[in-house]
Amino acid sequence: MKRTEIEKIAKENVFEQIGKKWMLVTAGTKEKNNTMTASWGGLGWLWNKPVAFVFIRPERYTHEFIEQSDRLTLSFYPEDYRNALQLCGSKSGRDTDKVAETGLTPCVLETGAVTFAEAEITLDCRKLFKASMQADNFIDKEVLSRWYNDKPGGSLHDVYVVEIESVYEE
Ligand SMILES: Cc1cc2nc3c(=O)[nH]c(=O)nc-3n(C[C@H](O)[C@H](O)[C@H](O)COP(=O)(O)O)c2cc1C
Repeated sequence: MKRTEIEKIAKENVFEQIGKKWMLVTAGTKEKNNTMTASWGGLGWLWNKPVAFVFIRPERYTHEFIEQSDRLTLSFYPEDYRNALQLCGSKSGRDTDKVAETGLTPCVLETGAVTFAEAEITLDCRKLFKASMQADNFIDKEVLSRWYNDKPGGSLHDVYVVEIESVYEE
């Protein structure tokens, strides 16, 4: 895995990469980390920095690791890894060894952040901002009903804005 320029991701189609191909959000240390699949999020430009934003429900085990870490990684995979991402998005690290079950190979970056060797692209990110969604802030209440009030286990997401400090490719 080698470091590359931020331009590497500038030409990627974010709707495709995140919404359709999905990504792994990983936080923690070499010794103890956790990963989960996410398909909600984005990349952009904020506070004159390249940023990503992710939406993580507080009940996710990964949320605990994100809270305890200064950093997280976002990583993107070839289609062959769809089953691995499906597993990381349907089982919890609380009771599953996702590395053993998927065969993904943990890989520690210079900053100590963790990703997986099979990733095509990894964004090594530093947390800048967190906000917890509030029901009162939903302008379209149908979104609130559909994704939260009427959904079992549908607690409101925490939004994290993270600075993309480094980009790695395989
Ligand atoms: C395709 C897909 C996309 C997902 N996107 C998100 C997301 O953006 N935010 C979120 O909180 N959970 C999302 N999930 C659910 C988590 O990945 C899932 O609950 C996972 O088992 C959490 O694992 P953990 O408890 O080990 O953190 C998604 C699941 C799948 C399959």
